[in-house]
Order: sequence, then C-alpha cells, then structure tokens
Amino acid sequence: MSTLKINGFQINNICCIGAGYVGGPTMSVIAKYCPDIIINVVDVNTDRIKSWNGDYKYLPIFEPGLSEIVKEVRGKNLFFTTDVENSIKKADLVFISVNTPIKTSGIGAGEASDLRWVESSAREISKFAVGHTIVVEKSTLPVKTAEIIKSILLSSEQNFNNDDKTKTFSVLSNPEFLAEGTAINDLVNPDRVLIGGEDNESIDALKQIYSKWINQEKIITTNLWSSELSKLIANAFLAQRISSINSVSAICEATGANVIEVAKAVGTDTRIGEKFLKPGPGFGGSCFKKDILNLVYICKSLGLNQVASYWEGIININNWQQDRIYKIVVDKLYGNISGKRIVILGFSFKADTNDVRNSPSIKICRQLLGEDATLIINDPKVDKKIILNEINYDNRYNYKIIYEKNISKAIENADAVLIMTEWEEYKNLDWKNLYKKMRKPSWLFDTRSIISFEIIKETDLNFWQLGNGESI
Ligand code: UDX
Ligand code: ADP
Repeated sequence: MSTLKINGFQINNICCIGAGYVGGPTMSVIAKYCPDIIINVVDVNTDRIKSWNGDYKYLPIFEPGLSEIVKEVRGKNLFFTTDVENSIKKADLVFISVNTPIKTSGIGAGEASDLRWVESSAREISKFAVGHTIVVEKSTLPVKTAEIIKSILLSSEQNFNNDDKTKTFSVLSNPEFLAEGTAINDLVNPDRVLIGGEDNESIDALKQIYSKWINQEKIITTNLWSSELSKLIANAFLAQRISSINSVSAICEATGANVIEVAKAVGTDTRIGEKFLKPGPGFGGSCFKKDILNLVYICKSLGLNQVASYWEGIININNWQQDRIYKIVVDKLYGNISGKRIVILGFSFKADTNDVRNSPSIKICRQLLGEDATLIINDPKVDKKIILNEINYDNRYNYKIIYEKNISKAIENADAVLIMTEWEEYKNLDWKNLYKKMRKPSWLFDTRSIISFEIIKETDLNFWQLGNGESI
C-alpha cells in the first residue's frame, strides 16, 4: 500500500472526531481523493453514526453531491463509527471537527465559544493516541484554542508510562471554509486551504493530503494564531457585506430604489466584487453569528472596545433586519394577524441544506406566533419534527403550526405567503393561479428577491419585496 511519507512520518490512517456538517463532507472528499488512506469518522451520537451508515438517501446531512461520494468510498476507505478509542489509537492524524456553540451561561455567556467538546476531544486524543499524532483543529475556534489543546496533549506526553516513549503530538490549525449547500464543490475546488502550525514536517504531511487534488499554490501556510484568526475574520468580512446590503435594502424601500440594482451597480466595481451582496432576512447558519460574537469577545478581552462595537454592529443590523420584516408583515395585514393564516416558504437558513441553525425563519416564526397567527410551514428538506422542535419547544403553539409538504394546499385560504428561503422550487410558482386560492386581500412577501414583479403585476396580489421600493 502506498502511503504519504514525510521525512519518515507516514500518514496512512486518519481519525475525524465529529461526524457533523464539517466532518462528514470533508472526510468524504479526502477519502475520495486519497484512496490509500483509511479514514474513521467518529461521533458520540450513535443515531448520527447509524444514519451515516444507513440508506444513502437519508444521510444525516443533505448536501448536493454528498451521497454520491459516500456511496463511492464508504466501506472502502471511509468508515463511520462510535469506536473513539480504537479510531484514535490507529490514527496518524486526528481532525477535531466538533461543535463549538456559544456559551449560554458563565463567563463570556452569549459571546464566547463553549469549548467543552474540543477539550473532551483533546483529552480523548491524549489518552488513546499511540506514537506521533498530528492533531488538526478543523472546527472554527477562538484564537489561542490551540494553546489549550497543546497544553492537554503535553500533559499526557509527560505523564505516559516509560514503555511508551514515542507518544508525541503536534498541533495544526486547518480551518474549513466550506459553505453549506455548496460544501462538496467548496471542498473539491477551494479558493484556498489554510494550514497554520509551528512544525514544518506536520504542515507538509497535511499539505501532501490536500495536494492530491488541490494546486499547491492554493495552500497557504501561516503560524497557528494567524490561521485561527483568519477564519474568524473571513467570516466577519462576509457577514459584514450581508449586513451592509441589508441596511441598504431599508434605504431602497424608503426611497423607491431597488436593492438588486444597487447591488449590481456597486458589485461590478472589481474592487468591491459581486459576491455576498444578496439582500435577505439576515444571515443564519452555525458560523457567522458565533464567529462575530467570538471576535467581539476577544476584542473586549483585549480592551479594544471600539473595535468590539464596530463588529457588534453587524449582528445588530442582522437582528434589526429580522425584526423589521416581522413588523412589516404585521403592519401590512392591518396591524393584526390574530387567527390569520400565514404560509412560510422555507425553514432552512439558506437553500440546498437541511440545516436550521440560526435560521431567520425561527425568529420570525416565533414573532408571528406571538401575535397569534396560524403558520403553515413548508420546506423541501427540513423535517417536520425539527421545525416543531425549533419553534414550539415548549409546546406553547400546538395547533398554531401546520406542516404542509404540498405548496398549493398550504396556500388555500391563506392571508399571506412569506418567502424565507431561496429554494429553487419557490422561484417559479404559478402565482397567476395560486393567488386565487388565497383569502382576499392577499399578500406575498418576498424576503429573498426571487419573485418576478412583472408576473405578480398580472395578479391581484399585494406584493412586498425586500429592498424593492417599487413593490410596496
Ligand atoms: C459560511 C461561510 O461562507 C463559510 O466560508 C464558512 O466555512 C462557514 O460559514 P454557511 O454559513 O454555510 O458558510 O453559508 P453562507 O453561504 O455563507 O451563508 C450564510 C448566511 O448568509 C445564509 O443565511 C445566507 O442566506 C446568507 N447570505 C449569504 C445572504 O443573506 N446574502 C448573501 O449574499 C450571502
Ligand atoms: P459542525 O457544523 O461544526 O460540523 P455539528 O454539530 O454538525 O458541527 O457536528 C459536530 C459533531 O461532533 C456532533 O455530531 C457531535 O455529536 C460530535 N462530537 C462532539 N464532541 C465529541 C466527542 N468528544 N467525541 C466524538 N464526537 C463528538
């Protein structure tokens, strides 16, 4: 079997701790391009592992192109297991790809990352690793987390028994830049791969893996802290663009301008660029909010309060945009939505994913339910159970939430339709016929700018489109 050999250090076995949105797709792609490396993806969640090993149609994560790759490599060189101990023992390299949510209590609550899963991963590695092990941070982590991991690993280097003299570690940071919905393409054709570390041999070993399918020039190496910080900053810059264009959407509505036209006019300046200028109900997902909060926390800890409030503004605009949409819906429906039927099209935080973490739909649905509306919710990929768990966690809104797979049925007798996610199937709905099923006066609210105003003009629908000053 051919293996990667770097100055005597061979990588022929990888363990990834965490079979989530990052670990699952990333390891599948590595397995595809490195058929000689055995990869074990481990998770403490037995149900998740069961479904990774189950029917390809129902993998725990929906991601275009993912099931095809899993089908190709699963059982050959990619394995999903709950056997953490043996997977770490066999590994030359361990990716830490676990959840790092924001702390809900204690010091830094609401801002700092909860590192308990990272710490327990480091403890498991320190306990079970054999020989030299490269430990790679994959999850987005606060700057200096590598220090914590190193300190845990170092204590085991010192404590191991004398027979096991070779137990050593090196720590790398290799943040993942994939976006959900395009994860496979982002992994196969990344803009760059970032590897931060202090030990060149280990950096080269990881570089060799990516070099199997990625051009060497795209692999950037830095020190550990630059790598950790770059990930936070990249996400903060992306989120900043979204909040910027969302703030402009409100100006457009008030002035008769159209935010799509403004975004195009502004984005064609090559210094600005056209990407990430789509207005919408605010960013969701597992990263943007968490990373900015982390950045704010770091700045405050460093006494950089002006810098902290600069970045905090991005989150404030994001929250404000969601509140604004909710208030507009209520206002257009005569300030009263009690008992009214509102159809929510889209519950995932963006199209082409079944992930609902921080989805703008969650907050807006809760606000509308708080006004006593009845919601009929549709999403092509998010399960009913997940939707109910997210908005009806305390069973407060039983009978007020209806899950409906059939859009035409959902719209029957509705007072309003609110498009929250830009799913392809929502783009060309037959409004000329659909609106006839609604109660009059009926409203269509398009927060994703996916509906053609020209088509709506041929109906009696009242139409509000985010950032379109002519639609109101
Ligand atoms: C993001 C980063 O893009 C990725 O590099 C990082 O690894 C993880 O965080 P993700 O959250 O999966 O990825 O998706 P992304 O496409 O960035 O969208 C995030 C949110 O921003 C979504 O709610 C999306 O609808 C919104 N968005 C994105 C906009 O509102 N407008 C845009 O122009 C782009
Ligand atoms: P991400 O989007 O960063 O991939 P997810 O929450 O989707 O985050 O996935 C992280 C996974 O890591 C979860 O399935 C969780 O059960 C798993 N996990 C957390 N801690 C450990 C651990 N110590 N050992 C194994 N798996 C873990």
